[in-house]
This record gives sequence, structure tokens and C-alpha cells, in this order.
Amino acid sequence: MSHSPDEKPCRTEGPGSSGRGEAKPLRRMFAGVPDRYDLVNRLFTLRFDERWRSLAAREILRHSPTRVLDAGSGTGDLVLHLARQLPVQTEIIGADFSEPMLSVAMKKVSRAGFRGRIGLVCTDVSNLCFPDDHFDIVSLAFAFRNLVWRNPIAEKCLAEMVRVLRPGGKIVIVESSQPGSGFLKFWYHAYLKMVVPRLGDFLSGEGGAYRYLAESARLFLNPEEVEALLAKSGFKGIRHRSLLGGVAALHVGEK
Ligand SMILES: C[S@@+](CC[C@H](N)C(=O)[O-])C[C@H]1O[C@@H](n2cnc3c(N)ncnc32)[C@H](O)[C@@H]1O
Repeated sequence: MSHSPDEKPCRTEGPGSSGRGEAKPLRRMFAGVPDRYDLVNRLFTLRFDERWRSLAAREILRHSPTRVLDAGSGTGDLVLHLARQLPVQTEIIGADFSEPMLSVAMKKVSRAGFRGRIGLVCTDVSNLCFPDDHFDIVSLAFAFRNLVWRNPIAEKCLAEMVRVLRPGGKIVIVESSQPGSGFLKFWYHAYLKMVVPRLGDFLSGEGGAYRYLAESARLFLNPEEVEALLAKSGFKGIRHRSLLGGVAALHVGEK
């Protein structure tokens, strides 16, 4: 993908350092999970993660974008969804600071025959290598939580996503959320506390990562708090839709 950002050079997939390195523990953690990341995700969500990503893709398609940035694109599921459905001339870029996650994404993109259509860029969302007002859509599938939950670089990440969106452009987020019903919340939290960390460690062979993922999901913001955060970051026309009783949510905001 030939993409020529204004100032900072973008590095496409390959070895080396990325970003400014503020979020190193998180980056190290994601380096340990890619091989089984998709499998574990499907298992833990009973494949609902795929359905939720396709809802995000559907929301993105509604806006007929010509340039889309998927921030924290991981193993590439959302960019693949988009490449299958958007016209060939659409610029689709997945950005992630984890080289191992990007390598898995690159293999999937090649296998699907989308190598020329999807750009995969190793960059930190807190220091994006794209010009101002460039994208029609910035999407995040299960990456928003990583960027903002107890993350010292949260404000920078939000400011960067606002910067690269064109005025009127949309942020589309699919993320875990907090169920509205106390009953569902009790069982969902018990599942996150008792099952996910242990099974995640066992299946991925990576102690720690799934403890973090489960803990951050359990303690993450409710939809109103996400909306307040988006409003504080400068988004307007903010709306959300709760999914599966509030276990996840789709958020949309406009720059
Ligand atoms: C839970 S995964 C989600 C991956 C993918 N979007 C999906 O739908 O499965 C979060 C991703 O965000 C990436 N990430 C977290 N913080 C980041 C940052 N500051 N800059 C770039 N990528 C980041 C991680 O490397 C990881 O691949």
C-alpha cells in the first residue's frame, strides 16, 4: 500500500521499533498472544466477537468511506471484513504497535488475496503517522479499552484519533461494556473473574495477558461513561447501541 503521510514516516509491517514506547508493558503483553488470539477470542465470546465486528463493519459501510483507519487492528479481522465489502479504491489501513499481531494479520490478508488492498502499519495510536483530517472513519474493534483504560497515554490516543479524522468523519467503536441488568452483570463478572484468566492462560500459554484482558473488561466503563469520554475528546452526535444485554456496545461519534 503506498501511503504518503505528511510528517512522520509510516512503517509497514516488518521488524524494528514503533511509536514512542510509552505503552511498553501492553505491547509486550500483546506480543505473547497472537498465535492463538483468534481462537481464544472465538471461544470466550462463543463467536459473538465476529458478529459484533460485522455490526461495526455495517455501521462503517453506511457512511460510504473512501479512507478508513482501523486503530489497534490486531490480527486484522475488521480490515478484512471491510476489504470484502468496500469498493476497491477505498483506502483501508490497519494500525497496530504489535509486530507479532501485525504478522498474523499480514498472513491472513495475503491468504485472502487482499495484499494490495489493505495497508498494515506498525505505529502507536498515541503518535500516528498520518496527516491531519485524513480519514473518513477511525474504527476500533476491542482496542478502545486498551487505549483508554488506566492507560497513561489515553488522552494522546484520543487526540490523535481526532486529529487524523476529517471534520464530519466518524469514530466507530465496538468494545466490551457493562450489562444493564444486575443479574447478567453478576454472572458476566464472575465469568471474567473466574474463567477467562485461567482458561486464557492455559490456551494461550501466556500468563498475564488474559488476566489483564479480563480485568480491564470487568472494570471497564459503562456506555454513558464512554460517551462522556468521547464528548470530552471533542466528538459530537454520540450514540451507542448495547449488544447482548450490554456485554458489548457499538459506539459512534462524529468529529
Ligand atoms: C484486544 S486487541 C484487538 C485486536 C483487533 N482489533 C480485534 O478486533 O480483535 C487490541 C489491539 O490493540 C493494539 N494496541 C493496544 N494499544 C495500542 C497502541 N497504543 N497503539 C497501537 N496499537 C495498540 C494491541 O497490540 C492489540 O493488537
